[in-house]
Amino acid sequence: MVEPRIQPLEGAPRQPGELKLLAGDAHPELARKIAEALHEPLGGMKITRFADGEIDVKIADSVRGADVFLIQPTCEPVSDNLIQLFIILDALRRASAGRITAVIPYYGYARKEKKSQARDPISAKLMADIITLAGANRVIALDLHADAIQGFFDIPVDHLTAEKLLVEYIRKLHLDNAVIVSPDVGGAKRVGGIARHLDLPIAFVYKRRPKDDVVSEQRVVGEVDGMDAVVVDDLISTGGTLVGVSEALRAEGARSVRVLATHGVLAADAVAKLMAAPIEEVVITDSLPLPPKKQHARLKVLSVAPLLAEAIRRVHEDRSVSELFK
Ligand code: R5P
Repeated sequence: MVEPRIQPLEGAPRQPGELKLLAGDAHPELARKIAEALHEPLGGMKITRFADGEIDVKIADSVRGADVFLIQPTCEPVSDNLIQLFIILDALRRASAGRITAVIPYYGYARKEKKSQARDPISAKLMADIITLAGANRVIALDLHADAIQGFFDIPVDHLTAEKLLVEYIRKLHLDNAVIVSPDVGGAKRVGGIARHLDLPIAFVYKRRPKDDVVSEQRVVGEVDGMDAVVVDDLISTGGTLVGVSEALRAEGARSVRVLATHGVLAADAVAKLMAAPIEEVVITDSLPLPPKKQHARLKVLSVAPLLAEAIRRVHEDRSVSELFK
């Protein structure tokens, strides 16, 4: 038999102890909201830097035997937040935590989940390997760019979705002639599920990307003429995809365009680009921080903190997480 490359953590007890919440520096606001929803305190942790920029971590209280949930989305600055995640996991493992769950609402590098060209890395798999090696016993993630990323981990992954939240939002818009649109072929399954819940038709956009972060062609497939288009994506990074999609939809006669995405990465001038496009409103979740300079009256934020808190509660109590989506 071939030995698995990643060895499970030795000595992790079957019945981990008390729930302990900890958070890195990536998204303190989300961590605070999750803690509030759970009525649990956030454990103390000091993250400092050495003179040369290296990160150091001091966990304030004992975590021995505890069921630790470490909240750390791997958002901008991605490399810093990832290294922080690895180092905190290592500290927790060495401090004899009973079980360590990495709560990674936004999983960076997810779009590098396959080789698209010769000699490409598969960075999403590499990050999964390091997270496991560093000490995570399980992962809670939200709307991963590709479902297959769950299988990159040799530990359990609870893959949550903000779908229900988005469905409720769309329902409340009371659009009388809506169509749910996927901005690319890859997102058709996600959009299909949402459209089914709302009993609405779907359309999708054929997209061609000649290189990273550049979109060269976007063609609408399906009926959108005279309709209110609601585009649903997993994430918005440069905004290039959704700006192009909104223009293509309007060119095909859509009377309004709204865009919804779980993760508002909103890199560089994405907000300005989206606001200048023919888009009524942009709706994201708080899976990533939204600094004041990126806020805008037409940019709405739905909170995934209650969903993440409930998932943490259920994992801790060994109850079903999938029931959350029924
Ligand atoms: C692509 O497959 C994703 O679902 C998003 O559509 C894409 O990554 C968004 O990137 P950007 O906003 O830079 O176009």
